[in-house]
Amino acid sequence: MRASDFRSDTVTLPSEEMRQAMASAEVGDDVLDGDPTVGRLEAATAEWLGKDEALFVPSGTMANQVALGSWTSPGDELICERGAHIVNFEAGAAGFLHGLQSVTLAGERGALDPEEVRGSLRPDYIHCPRTGVVCMEQTHTESGGSVVSLEAMEAVHAVGQEAGVPVHLDGARLANAEAASGVSAAQWASTAESVSVCFSKGLGAPVGSVVAGDAAFVERARVVRKRLGGWMRQSGILAAAGLYALENNRDRLTDDHALAKDIAARLDSFDGLSCDPETVDTNLAVVRVAGPAPGAHALVEALGERGVLVFAFTADSLRFVTHLGVGVEDVERLEAALQEILGG
Ligand SMILES: Cc1ncc(COP(=O)(O)O)c(C=O)c1O
Repeated sequence: MRASDFRSDTVTLPSEEMRQAMASAEVGDDVLDGDPTVGRLEAATAEWLGKDEALFVPSGTMANQVALGSWTSPGDELICERGAHIVNFEAGAAGFLHGLQSVTLAGERGALDPEEVRGSLRPDYIHCPRTGVVCMEQTHTESGGSVVSLEAMEAVHAVGQEAGVPVHLDGARLANAEAASGVSAAQWASTAESVSVCFSKGLGAPVGSVVAGDAAFVERARVVRKRLGGWMRQSGILAAAGLYALENNRDRLTDDHALAKDIAARLDSFDGLSCDPETVDTNLAVVRVAGPAPGAHALVEALGERGVLVFAFTADSLRFVTHLGVGVEDVERLEAALQEILGG
């Protein structure tokens, strides 16, 4: 029996239709003459994001790092929220690859305080590093997949614009923000000079991300991608999955969001577990664990023994992620497993 896998939306397997699209993709050497399917994906994504151009790269990490390398010089500073993926989960790449130091600010469910950003900008003074870039994240993973409001992002963008500092948006799950809010991806992306998006998360492709911006940004980004070894050859095979995902898997993200809320509501009724469904904006439900329930790590183990996979978010919370590989029957299995472990 297959596992019910709530660990991440990256575990999805390509559907038969997506595999067909990949197998029949028209391809070429993207480094030599261009790959037509990659070209189509880049154009479609740029249009979706309301940007001039876009570049296809293997991963979200590379998309973010290409953006950092395009905006900054060694010794510059990067400002972002304390829980941001770009400084916590990219193995120190901002420092290792680009010689950046980071200023991290505590946010409110992922939203930066524009006045704190303003206060963190460096003066033009020989002793100080230069502020190279401000980074935002949408949806914000560390605060449970929360959707940061458009007003909050516009306010941070205005601070950057006043100071002539570019803003990069890590939009790994921007499609989820769009589906949850009705605010278009282009509106969200208008709050930043560059934006990265992933096809291999909730959109269900096996691989691939894009980084987009104006023509001058993309010209620099092309060089950074080359330096990082991210320029691929007959990559239309992969881009076809991204195109399929963009065309077919965006609307269904609301199902994932409803399922995450359903998990929150069902688990909240267990003694020792709590999660207010109102705090679930997208496809992540963070469930607090307190006595009489065993700790989060013990619960992960006990659930795993019953075929339900989940990650501990902290020592006293679990993170459930919904995606196209799980459905109501998996939530019922989760509930039954918890009844067995916790009683009630
Ligand atoms: C917010 C965010 N940005 C970037 C990434 C990096 O994506 P990848 O794993 O494709 O490198 C992730 C991965 O989960 C993420 O959650």
